[in-house]
Amino acid sequence: MSAVLSVQHLAVRYGDLVGVADISIAVPAGSVVALLGANGAGKTTTLNAIAGLVPPAAGRIAWQGRDIAGRPAHAIVAQGLALSPEGWRLFVQQSVEQNLRLGATVLADRSRAAAMLERVYALFPRLAERRRQRAGTLSGGERQMLALGRALMSDPQLLMLDEPSLGLAPAVVERMYEALVQLNETGLPLLLAEQSVELALELADYAYVLQTGRTVLEGPAEELAGNTEVQRIYMGIA
Ligand SMILES: Nc1ncnc2c1ncn2[C@@H]1O[C@H](COP(=O)(O)OP(=O)(O)OP(=O)(O)O)[C@@H](O)[C@H]1O
Ligand SMILES: [Mg+2]
Repeated sequence: MSAVLSVQHLAVRYGDLVGVADISIAVPAGSVVALLGANGAGKTTTLNAIAGLVPPAAGRIAWQGRDIAGRPAHAIVAQGLALSPEGWRLFVQQSVEQNLRLGATVLADRSRAAAMLERVYALFPRLAERRRQRAGTLSGGERQMLALGRALMSDPQLLMLDEPSLGLAPAVVERMYEALVQLNETGLPLLLAEQSVELALELADYAYVLQTGRTVLEGPAEELAGNTEVQRIYMGIA
């Protein structure tokens, strides 16, 4: 299958510090791709660079054949790439529904926002119940659902998720992953950064292992699941 997203030799610098040194990944149409790696490996930096939140210092980011590297975040969302970010970045004083509606501001046809809202509420009934609650008073799991819901409001053609299971109770993680399976079954490709290797490899078709800003290992998820090297790299044991 052809890749909808292709990242080649991406480098990102934070001043003198190296965020990522050399990352190459591809996301085939309709697939789930996981980025694995220990703390500081470069997962968030990679997703943020694709989303236009940090500028690449080098490399190519091609979305449906077009180079989008260095384009501003709002332009990238408008092209169909959405990110559910690490730390959620919610407007805590605003209600659940106001946060969701903000995710729809890039829709060319604003009248579709109502339909998108219904889709998010169908996926996460918990958010529908709490539509008037301030985002700052939501539980961790509910915030994660809201961050994902807000990303969906832009009606993306690729959904990127940064640590969707982080800090959540097992039952909530399970619900979150069920939602991701449901979304992928509609044909939506997912690019997922995840600390939980086991969980990620269960959902993913293909995975990349990052180590200190480089892709050091890749393969079909079922192959990596049985690979002891993955655990070793992941644990940061040199
Ligand atoms: N704003 C920043 N300024 C300076 N260095 C940064 C910044 N953000 C990230 N880094 C550095 O870039 C490297 C990659 O960090 P990144 O957050 O991408 O890793 P990660 O794989 O997402 O880690 P984690 O699993 O802890 O979320 C790290 O060395 C980190 O310290
Ligand atoms: Mg991270």
